[in-house]
Amino acid sequence: MGLMDGKVVVVVGVANKRSIAWGITQALSDAGARLALNYQNDRMAEPVQKLAEDLPQKPFLAPCDVTVAGDLERFFEAIGNQFGRIDGAEKVVEHYNVMGPVKAALEASVRYLAHELGPGGIRVNAISAGPIKTVSAMGVTGFSGILDTVEKRAPLRRNVTQEDVGNCALFLMSELSSAITGQVIYVDAGYSILGV
Ligand SMILES: NC(=O)c1ccc[n+]([C@@H]2O[C@H](COP(=O)([O-])OP(=O)(O)OC[C@H]3O[C@@H](n4cnc5c(N)ncnc54)[C@H](O)[C@@H]3O)[C@@H](O)[C@H]2O)c1
Repeated sequence: MGLMDGKVVVVVGVANKRSIAWGITQALSDAGARLALNYQNDRMAEPVQKLAEDLPQKPFLAPCDVTVAGDLERFFEAIGNQFGRIDGAEKVVEHYNVMGPVKAALEASVRYLAHELGPGGIRVNAISAGPIKTVSAMGVTGFSGILDTVEKRAPLRRNVTQEDVGNCALFLMSELSSAITGQVIYVDAGYSILGV
C-alpha cells in the first residue's frame, strides 16, 4: 500500500524530465497518488504529454498559465469536475535565486497560510531546494559554478536531485508529516547551514 493511495494531488510546473516538479510527480505517482498536471501553454504541451504517458496511471492534464487571468480558476474547476475533490492541494514552492524580498514574501506567505488554514486541517509547507540543472536554472549566470561550489562545500558533499526534492514533497504531503505546518524545509545537502 502506497503512502498516497487514492489521493488526488495537483502538481504544477512540469516542463520536462529535468523539472523539479517532475521529480515530485514521480515520487507521488510511485506512492499511489492520482495526479493532475498542467502545462504552461500549447507550445509546452508535447513534452509534458510524453512524460505523462510514462506514468502507470494516466494523469489529468490541462493548460494553465498563472499569468493569464482566469486560467487558474479554469484549471482547478476542470480538476474538480474530473475527480470530484482534491486532497493534497498543497503548493510546493521552491524558491531559488530569486530576489531577497520575493523569497521573504514566499516564506512569510507559507506561515500566514498555515496559520489561516490550520484550523481547517490544511497544512502548508514549502521546500527550498539546492541548485538543480533545469531549464530555468540554466538562465542563471554562473550556474555551473554554483553547482561546483555546493558539491565541494555542502555537508553531504553533493548536489541534490529532483528525486531528493520529490521524496521530501511526498513526506510533506503524506500523513507522515501530520503535525508539520508552516515550515520551509531545505533540501540542499545541508548547504544552508554553512557560515562564511
Ligand atoms: N533548479 C534549481 O536550481 C532550483 C532551485 C531551487 C528552486 N527552484 C525553483 O523551482 C521552481 C521550478 O523550476 P525548475 O528548476 O524545475 O525549472 P523548470 O524550467 O523545469 O520549471 C519551471 C516551470 O514553471 C512553469 N512556468 C513558468 N511560468 C509559468 C506561468 N506563467 N504559468 C504556468 N507555469 C509557468 C514552466 O512552464 C515550467 O514548467 C522555480 O520556481 C525555481 O525558481 C529551482
